Amino acid sequence: MPLDVIVGAQWGDEGKGRVVDLLAAKANYVARYNGGDNAGHTVTVEGQTFKLHLIPSGVIHAHTTGVIGNGVVVNPATLFEEIRSLKDAGVNVGPERLRISFAAHLITPAHRAIDAAQEAARGKKAIGTTLRGIGPAYTDKVSRTGLRLGQMLDIDTFSSAIEAHIQEANQRLSMLYSAKPLDVKTEARQYVEYARQLQPYITDVSVLLSEAMKNGQRVLAEGAQGTLLDLDHGTYPFVTSSYPTAAGALHGLGLGVGCTERVVGVTKAFQTRVGAGPFPTELSGELALHLRGTGANPWDEYGTTTGRPRRVGWLDMVLLRYATRINGLTELALTKLDILTGLETLKICVAYRQGGRTFNELPLGPGELAGFEPVYEELPGWEKDLRRVSAWEDLPKQARAYILHIEELCGAPVRMVSVGPEREQVVEIS
Ligand code: IMP
Repeated sequence: MPLDVIVGAQWGDEGKGRVVDLLAAKANYVARYNGGDNAGHTVTVEGQTFKLHLIPSGVIHAHTTGVIGNGVVVNPATLFEEIRSLKDAGVNVGPERLRISFAAHLITPAHRAIDAAQEAARGKKAIGTTLRGIGPAYTDKVSRTGLRLGQMLDIDTFSSAIEAHIQEANQRLSMLYSAKPLDVKTEARQYVEYARQLQPYITDVSVLLSEAMKNGQRVLAEGAQGTLLDLDHGTYPFVTSSYPTAAGALHGLGLGVGCTERVVGVTKAFQTRVGAGPFPTELSGELALHLRGTGANPWDEYGTTTGRPRRVGWLDMVLLRYATRINGLTELALTKLDILTGLETLKICVAYRQGGRTFNELPLGPGELAGFEPVYEELPGWEKDLRRVSAWEDLPKQARAYILHIEELCGAPVRMVSVGPEREQVVEIS
């Protein structure tokens, strides 16, 4: 089957960009299916680091066409900024190389203002959103008042629709949150200009990809965020407002169930999360610093989109097993194994304990994760610097044992291990 899906198996930031970059070498189309510019995908090629939020990171391969599906929310300002910065780096992404679904929804400055106002109003219960307007844009979609890209094809009706949208948002901003209203004319004028520029990109993504697959071409679906941030299957309410899971790929691109071949779950060799919400294996102190880094390197654990330091902890196999099931993962890609070098002992969470009982599965899903204590197994660490390792046999035996134990605990094979930020710092396992 011609569709491969790459999903985050944790709370996002798993290093999906790396894996996409690798698999995009064999793909004709690379398609984003969920989320918006809350995502941050970093790819390093020959010392040049690309940070993309909205455009699929696979477009860095010149032979691919990038696709943005109906499941995505599009901020045109970010889109054009990325098109510009890619061009500066020698990667041209015009309408012939980037196709966007008519059914994708727009993010506007009103959505961003509402996101900020809502977070401020939540006070201590804030979700810690990226403030990119994601939740409010999807709220409008579900309320059936959202703005779809297809509306941009008719400038006159779009012009009225965007004005009405800003006016309505202004009422919400001032009445519910006592926040400053936006200038209707200025914002509307800007979006009408975006409409003119976006028109040549807009298409029927479902037809485009289905036809391509019929003609033997390959599609790579590039997930943003991760399973544990999925609106339904994540740590609700500390989730994003879209469907990062594998089923979201089919829905968010308008594809049938039967076309999937591989579902690759990307997981770090440890656990990270940004924003609020439960995190049973979270660490602090020296160990946390070891895993997070100081922020001096682009691959240290600081948010690509927000710059916030990420929370870090031991690998949680209860959650990884859950992600394997929810997504039907056919394989795992394990990233940042090199970061574990130098730790004498590694812990891995294999179950939870609460009220004297042990749980191998979450009794009420990740939404009810708070209050569970991790049950750890300990494994010996290694000293060898892994950054030049490119073959399975050259990994220290403790690292191989760690990987084999992960496979055994979640029942999916690890096919790829990254040992550094560069494209070639990968061990492929057949
Ligand atoms: P939102 O998607 O901006 O509404 O944020 C909701 C939650 O998802 C917050 O905890 C964010 O930190 C988290 N989040 C959103 N996008 C990403 C991502 O790309 N990586 C990691 N966390 C994310």
